[in-house]
Amino acid sequence: MNVYLDTASPERIRSADRLGVVDGVTTNPSIVADTDRRYRDVVETAADIVDGPVFAQVLAEDADGMVREARGYQDWADHVIAKLPATRAGFQALARLRADGVPSGTTVVFSVEQAVLAAKNDAAFVAPYVGRIDDSGADGVATTRRIQSVFDAQGFETEVLAASIRNTTQATTLYEAGVDAITMSPDVLDAHVDHPETENGVAGFAAAWGDRDPPLSE
Ligand code: E4P
Repeated sequence: MNVYLDTASPERIRSADRLGVVDGVTTNPSIVADTDRRYRDVVETAADIVDGPVFAQVLAEDADGMVREARGYQDWADHVIAKLPATRAGFQALARLRADGVPSGTTVVFSVEQAVLAAKNDAAFVAPYVGRIDDSGADGVATTRRIQSVFDAQGFETEVLAASIRNTTQATTLYEAGVDAITMSPDVLDAHVDHPETENGVAGFAAAWGDRDPPLSE
């Protein structure tokens, strides 16, 4: 399973990378717009920190523009994967880019049907938007599970990349379901680490040890 970090912050990427679990970085226009940096700088900086892929989303809304942007992103760093929306233009662009060998996949996915179209087009990934699917009144985790199960049944190699994850309950349910990949905010990753009872346990061991000499000084 791949774990990606959903952020434009170099500090948060470095901090998460030190945990040894970050396989890459996902970005989107909203995440980049929240900074005062250029998209190129965000992608290049992330790519300098992590070895794995950095995902960059196209802004164009027509297929020609998407293809142009996706190709241009390839100059920013190695391992850039273009994110194309699950629109008619996005699927057309995906077909053209995959034919040319430009790494690209489908994002803003809200249904099993969209995911299947992307997989049939040999998308590198499909990103169901778990939290936003919930917001729309459907079940984001259940939709993602169904996508994973269809891909497994059909032998599709497209990575199911669960996105728009809001909490660890969504994440752990998807781990149980065998999801291929997940992207999460640094806050959700931090919530994987932090547990009050672990803090209590560690404090208890320290209290039990008291003022004895540290082990390596014995
Ligand atoms: C990741 O690639 C997605 O763009 C991101 O997870 C979307 O999350 P949001 O719904 O919180 O914007």
